[in-house]
Amino acid sequence: MDNPLRVSCGVLSASDVGKTVELDGWVHRRRDHGGLIFIDVRDRSGITQVTFDPSKGETFALAETLRGEDVVSVRGTVRRRPAGTENVKLATGEVEVPADGLEILNRSETPPFVIAAEEEPAEEVRLRYRYLDLRRPRMQRNLTVRHKIVKAIRDYFDEHGFLEIETPNLIKSTPEGARDYLVPSRVHRGSFYALPQSPQILKQILMIGGLGRYMQIARCFRDEDPRADRQPEFTQVDVEMTFVRQDDVLEVMEGSMRYVWRSALGLEIPSSLPRLTYAEAMRRYGSDKPDLRFELELLDVADLFRGGAFGLFADLAESDANRVIALRWPGGSSLSRRDFDAVTELAKTFGAKGLAYISLAPDGIKGSIARFVDEPLAAALRERTGAQDGDAILFVGDAARGASEVAGRLRLEIGERLGLRKPDAFAFCWVLGFPLFERDEESGEITFSHHPFTAPAPGQEALFDSDPLAITAQHYDLVLNGYELGSGSIRNHQAEFQRKVFKRLGLTDEQIDDRFGFFMEALTYGAPPHGGMALGIDRIVMLACGETSIRDVIAFPKNQMARDVMMDAPSGVPDQALKDLGLQILSIPPKPAE
Ligand code: AMO
Repeated sequence: MDNPLRVSCGVLSASDVGKTVELDGWVHRRRDHGGLIFIDVRDRSGITQVTFDPSKGETFALAETLRGEDVVSVRGTVRRRPAGTENVKLATGEVEVPADGLEILNRSETPPFVIAAEEEPAEEVRLRYRYLDLRRPRMQRNLTVRHKIVKAIRDYFDEHGFLEIETPNLIKSTPEGARDYLVPSRVHRGSFYALPQSPQILKQILMIGGLGRYMQIARCFRDEDPRADRQPEFTQVDVEMTFVRQDDVLEVMEGSMRYVWRSALGLEIPSSLPRLTYAEAMRRYGSDKPDLRFELELLDVADLFRGGAFGLFADLAESDANRVIALRWPGGSSLSRRDFDAVTELAKTFGAKGLAYISLAPDGIKGSIARFVDEPLAAALRERTGAQDGDAILFVGDAARGASEVAGRLRLEIGERLGLRKPDAFAFCWVLGFPLFERDEESGEITFSHHPFTAPAPGQEALFDSDPLAITAQHYDLVLNGYELGSGSIRNHQAEFQRKVFKRLGLTDEQIDDRFGFFMEALTYGAPPHGGMALGIDRIVMLACGETSIRDVIAFPKNQMARDVMMDAPSGVPDQALKDLGLQILSIPPKPAE
């Protein structure tokens, strides 16, 4: 036989007919049909159909022993598939390789799930056998998209004069509002490093160090409960620049997303992204990360109920601290009473005390507050909300923030049910003008909304003592399809001012010097004005891939209990290791149920 051409499994086409090739890969599927054995051989590039004919004695006998996920090397001469047996779904579907030779490079145990199966295996099984899960075409595609996105990010920032600089992972705490992961020191017993929640302080110090424009694909660690869009360990594209104003940062970051979408996904995003203030986002969408793939806004209707027959809303309308919000549900009048009850229950899980609604049915107004809605009120509600016959209107009334949040979540629910949240649509926006401080719900203390290094908007210093919660920050979020992709801010670059912020957050001079002394000192040596941002790469890739969990775009994620179930981490360590570190475990609680 000619020296075979070594090719990947996804590349052969009709133009290769007659070529003698060698394919290496895994047995994806095996079918026995009409005396022939058909094997789909798979690698990252795709699948090629290989046929084994009984006339090929030994090779056929060996093929009979093949099972899913065995690793093979096959030789043969490419031919056209017989007319009518082409597979248009497969890139290589016009051809097949009749095998002249077969080598079994390794055998596989029967896998706990079939890689070729359409249906998704349970996540715990996928994570436990991640190496098998990673063979699934979907995971291979997701990690390929991830690679392309990260490469595009690096190219973009390189072209814009940024240096990629690595910062260490064994550091002192950099607060971002979560708990630190701590690493005990053996050399300095009783002392601990913290893993970075982000490189925030270090990138600011790079600016003080005169590096001008920094970026890093940075691993961050936060000890907080995992969620679909949150992992204990995740990756940011972290950026910082000197001598910039807010608009400069927005322009660079927006450009990076435009570049990524174009070069990695082949998609255009608008040349200028919508900007909303935090107050506006809460008012119109009930969220500081609004999903702008669909319109459907929250509309204030308290004034229409003022002095009216429905006492609850009439009372709420007496104070500006409350909102009565109307939400149009297009086509909602076809919902049954039971449907509305279910939506009411859902609203309660969002924190609502209850839910009022009317249904604009052709035979008149129905619904929980229909008896309070006379003709003039109905006309006014129709006009305000744009609702028409066949629609329903939901009403949420409460203290402003709570009402906004509940209505915002109901808005998403309606969008979901009406199929308006399309995974292949991308609606970016900026949210600006966040408050600098907020009140911690548990402790009641003033805390930072972003992190303690964020600068207030110019001219707001006077509010520091009189009304700190009214201070607007130079802080901006980039939002995509209802997810916060990233956050950033212009920083405090003057030591005196930074100290004032720390003190406002309740730290004493001693605590400031103990925790941030090195940074406070650095600020005193000619720190330039600077600002930046960090985008969550896992979330970017998740949305770009149309996934709903970042675990599906991370090669080795932790599960929902923050465990790596493949490696079994975290796990105990030998007594000697604890001794070396000067540590003693006081008690080990029983293993939580997973
Ligand atoms: P922030 O804490 O908002 O800002 O984080 C920036 C972005 O990082 C992503 N992110 C996460 N992704 C996955 N799992 C997590 N646990 C997680 N936490 C955050 C999000 C988020 O928008 N140092 C500042 C940035 C700056 O000011 O420059 C920071 O880290 O996409």
